[in-house]
Amino acid sequence: MRKLTYFVACSIDGFIGDGQGDASEMFRFMDEEFLDFLKTEFPETMATQGRKHFGVDHLESKRFDTVIQGRGSYELALKEGITSPYAHLREYVASRTLAASPDPNVEIVSDDLVGRVRALKAEESGLDIYLCGGSHLAGQLLDEIDELVIKTYPLVYGTGMPMFATGVDIKDFTLDGVRTFTNGVFVRTYTRRR
Ligand SMILES: NC(=O)c1ccc[n+]([C@@H]2O[C@H](COP(=O)([O-])OP(=O)(O)OC[C@H]3O[C@@H](n4cnc5c(N)ncnc54)[C@H](OP(=O)(O)O)[C@@H]3O)[C@@H](O)[C@H]2O)c1
Repeated sequence: MRKLTYFVACSIDGFIGDGQGDASEMFRFMDEEFLDFLKTEFPETMATQGRKHFGVDHLESKRFDTVIQGRGSYELALKEGITSPYAHLREYVASRTLAASPDPNVEIVSDDLVGRVRALKAEESGLDIYLCGGSHLAGQLLDEIDELVIKTYPLVYGTGMPMFATGVDIKDFTLDGVRTFTNGVFVRTYTRRR
């Protein structure tokens, strides 16, 4: 069974962006050391445009071959005229309102989201599934998440979009490792305890 991994950027106080989910304040921590880490361990988590910008679009995927995101996150790309933001991965977008996929590489998941994710997890592959977010999709899939990779930036938002839009729903995770970077970012990896 392969893993569903929520790979997410957040503030010290656990927000993935401001009230609208805007995380652009976090972009300034993409310095050479942190970019090297992403290039070495998670190059496929950079969107196709970002990969081109940083000249890393030739890098092979290390951890994931599939990405799933909610319509809210996908819409950010659509607004820029980008219909396939992770063209180097198999892309799934959860939505009950998008009638048809605007791109052949993107499959819309409109019903039985959990069943579709379980089927993806059951596929034979050496690579895992990247849960991109946002908050509502992560809340819907909380019980399916096997791993968390949380990039924490040295910022306090005070309020904002939570990592999981859900009611109280306590789950146990085991800390596997912490990486720290000189710019104050740290990355924690957790495995779901079942
Ligand atoms: N900091 C980070 O690492 C990070 C990562 C990703 C995203 N974000 C931010 O997160 C924000 C978006 O988050 P969000 O919570 O507003 O939206 P979201 O989770 O990306 O998408 C929510 C949408 O997903 C669809 N959906 C959710 N559950 C579903 C289900 N069970 N079946 C079918 N469709 C389902 C619905 O689409 P329909 O309404 O079409 O039915 C819902 O409105 C963005 O602003 C983005 O910047 C931050």
